[in-house]
Amino acid sequence: MNLPMEGIALLVQNHYGMLIVAVLSIGITSLLWKAWGSNVDSTDEDGIPGRMGLSFLGETFSFFSACYSTKGFYDFVKQRRKRYGKWFKTRILGKTHVFIPSVEGAKTILSNDFVHFNKSYLSPMKDAMGARSVFLVPHKVHTRIRRLLSDPFSMTSLEKFAVKFDEMVCERLRKLEKSGKSFKVIDFSLKITFDAMVSMLMSVTENPLLEQIEKDCTDVSNAMLSIPFMIPGTSYYKGKKGREKLYVTFGNMIAKRRSGEEHFDDFLQTMVDRDSYPENEKLDDEEIIDNLITLILAGQTTTASAMMWCVKFLSENKDVLDKLREEQLSMARNKPEGASLTLEDLTEKSYGFKVVKETLRMANVLMWLPRHEVKKGWFVNVDATCVHFDPDVYKDPMRFNPLRFDDIQKPYSFLPFGAGPRTCLGINMAKVAMLVFVHRLTSGYQWTLDDPDSAFARKEHIPRLRNGCPITLKALNRGK
Ligand code: HEM
Repeated sequence: MNLPMEGIALLVQNHYGMLIVAVLSIGITSLLWKAWGSNVDSTDEDGIPGRMGLSFLGETFSFFSACYSTKGFYDFVKQRRKRYGKWFKTRILGKTHVFIPSVEGAKTILSNDFVHFNKSYLSPMKDAMGARSVFLVPHKVHTRIRRLLSDPFSMTSLEKFAVKFDEMVCERLRKLEKSGKSFKVIDFSLKITFDAMVSMLMSVTENPLLEQIEKDCTDVSNAMLSIPFMIPGTSYYKGKKGREKLYVTFGNMIAKRRSGEEHFDDFLQTMVDRDSYPENEKLDDEEIIDNLITLILAGQTTTASAMMWCVKFLSENKDVLDKLREEQLSMARNKPEGASLTLEDLTEKSYGFKVVKETLRMANVLMWLPRHEVKKGWFVNVDATCVHFDPDVYKDPMRFNPLRFDDIQKPYSFLPFGAGPRTCLGINMAKVAMLVFVHRLTSGYQWTLDDPDSAFARKEHIPRLRNGCPITLKALNRGK
């Protein structure tokens, strides 16, 4: 029977309610059917156990709710590992993710970066960093951007950074000790790493500009684990707005450098001074801005959390703290009063350096390294935390024991900074910052840990303590 168009329209109009109910019923039934079929623990033909959940959502809610838990975001992985063993798969925001728990897996994936694997991020993370970020650009562009971004990490720049950071740490710790008040190490470390990085990158040291950049960067960072809906008031929305403001701020700075109105000896200047260079020897404005934001996001919370975990671990391991203090005091005694630390003082052979490494192993600042398998389209996560806590790789892994780093590690077994062509660009800067902090703290002060609670802060993609690790400083009598 052929119904004329008006007839169909009338039928729809008259039975609108019924049609909606019918469509909804079919939809819900099919969703439930799929859920029933795929919500059971499955191994499938790929042989990897796991729960795939509803067709698009999968375990998205469990994933994001782990992020809201005080057991820490990594609890999502721990729970599944208990159920399925070391290897498991899950579905998040429509994509199948496999967690890779071994040194061999890490080697296969990280040594094949850009060949068989590529970096992959959830969309809010991509939005935060920007399309021209060194984290997200394709291979050829990555090589150029990475090379050009290396300047602040050269030995000469690091030497300057160490002196500047040392001054800042000394001054701020002195003030905190004088106040006699308890303070949260995380607040201290976030502020000092931010100030030091923004000073090194673009010579901003004064408010209100410093405060404005900090607020906008915090909004962008908070959006990294948000659900990507552009609804006013949400973290995602604030993050997007924060990025827009940073674009204007950094754009204005670039314009002032170009016109000669401003000139500083910093990273931004080296980028602008390349204006007349050939294409492959410079960054365009979008690349400069996206990567300024990237360097701040990649460097601040990571280094700050590692500093906080170092204090927590030292507070709970008095034998390690005593040994470390002895070494750092003897280092201080060998220098003239008031002299700054140099890179030579921060030698890799020191006990302090091993404390930093052990902190990084146990803190797992970046819990896993996400990749996308190019041919099959799989999403794989190199589970650095699992490798760092594997008793076959690190004996007695839950013990804070810096001396384990007397031994040489197997390649791809120590992954706090990743490995392969995408190894952390700020690896030496982060180590220098941690070593300077540890030196000044242990050689100048004693402290009390004012709240031993070990619960994790909610909604943080970089793990940190809920209480921020509060301590009170007391000057150390160096004569004794
Ligand atoms: C304790 C502190 C830090 C830790 C634990 C850390 C960790 C990491 C890790 C694991 C990666 C590799 C990610 C992957 O392969 O998926 C990475 C990459 C990166 N990090 Fe760091 N990082 C720290 C500090 C810094 C600092 C201070 C900076 C810069 C100021 C920085 C800039 C970068 C950049 C630009 C990349 C991307 C490199 C590329 O893709 O070529 N990081 N970081």
